[in-house]
Amino acid sequence: MIKIDYTNVMAEVIGERDGILREELLSFRHFVSETHQRIQKEKERKFYFAKLPYQDPTPILETAQHIRENFDYFVLIGIGGSSLGSIMLHEALNGFNYNNKKVPKFYVLDNVDPEKFEAVMENIEIEKTCFNIVTKSGSTVETIANFSIVYDTLKERLGDKYKEHLIFTTDPEKGFLRKLANEEGIKALDIPPLVGGRFSVLTPVGLLPAAVVGINIKDLLEGAKKMDLICSIEEHIEHNPAYLIALTHYIANMRRGKNIAVMMPYAERLSSFVDWYKQLWAESLGKDGLGQTPAKAIGTIDQHSQIQLYREGPRDKIITFIQVNNFKHDFKIPDDIPEDIHYLSGHTLKDILNKELLGTKAALIKSKVPNITITLDEINEYNIGMMIYLYELATGFSGYLYKINPFDQPAVEEGKNFTYALMGRKGYEAKLEEFKELYKEKYKIEIQ
Ligand code: PA5
Repeated sequence: MIKIDYTNVMAEVIGERDGILREELLSFRHFVSETHQRIQKEKERKFYFAKLPYQDPTPILETAQHIRENFDYFVLIGIGGSSLGSIMLHEALNGFNYNNKKVPKFYVLDNVDPEKFEAVMENIEIEKTCFNIVTKSGSTVETIANFSIVYDTLKERLGDKYKEHLIFTTDPEKGFLRKLANEEGIKALDIPPLVGGRFSVLTPVGLLPAAVVGINIKDLLEGAKKMDLICSIEEHIEHNPAYLIALTHYIANMRRGKNIAVMMPYAERLSSFVDWYKQLWAESLGKDGLGQTPAKAIGTIDQHSQIQLYREGPRDKIITFIQVNNFKHDFKIPDDIPEDIHYLSGHTLKDILNKELLGTKAALIKSKVPNITITLDEINEYNIGMMIYLYELATGFSGYLYKINPFDQPAVEEGKNFTYALMGRKGYEAKLEEFKELYKEKYKIEIQ
């Protein structure tokens, strides 16, 4: 179960300067109806991610089973949309102690930080490790750099057996990795060409690592399917969760100056869900001078860090709280504690967490800061599947509101191209000249 409570974004609660009038929301009804029809048609093309919940996961489950039976370590090499979804699923659904208790142990090499690389390699035994190289383009520098070192090490240490330790997840036809898979007979899974990186968590990109670490991917897909069904049937703004999330954020942004969208779960297992959401929202909608900066806060920790700013700083934020009703474990404050702190007796940590959320919300309402609360009855595969699809569709729908293409990332490609040029990649000579023109270190202070 998930519940979306948007009472506190409404003008009747926080006033018209910061809040949204119901008539204002409903005035989008024709736009929503038209866009709804377009989205249904686009499910074969741009909105192809909407078909993913209906896939048969059997081949992924079989590959995962093989890995689980043969390896003690599973290392994902990938970055951005090729890793954030897997990290999010693992953290949300397996919690914090997985690697201390279970196999295959799970590690991610996303960055090209040499010390992170060393730490991961130190933790694994290479002869018992499966490396999953995930890259849609097959050419992202970080991924290829980390892979190259691993590839060399595998060959040196395991000889001809190196292939058995590699699984690629990449485009079915294009790119360096696909070519290498074909040439050397390395197992490779397909990323559907119509699905972009940040929308790919429900393809083998996210599903294979999830299944390897014991996540029930069938339930995950069921949750996504449920959200798709609701959102496909319900055209009415107030009954369609994805359109509601998109519209409240759009109106808050474009008409009330709320340029920052904070997501603040009161459950640390959802910390990486926010990282996944941040990429989705930022990379999809940050175009043509438009978009909303997503920011992460964690309850209760950031009550002691950010809430002062959220209440009394610039009036530029809309906040989404995520509340969890039931945790797998909970702990009661004992009865036998000193009188001064006795008010806590009998409460559990979960009670305190959720009471703190209520207290924070009341304080924000008082300061007229718009906020939405999404409540999950618990963190499980079904609910996370719903949340993934909810935000993917809200993002896709927002593309129509902002009149931008949410499925490309030209500004990211630009940075990648300069990097290729700086690394001396063939064909990027003109880019290197452009870099030299652009980049100067003219004003600086250096301290020894
Ligand atoms: O969403 C996106 O398209 C990007 O964040 C990519 O996922 C990221 O740049 C990694 O690209 P690739 O999967 O091609 O290595």
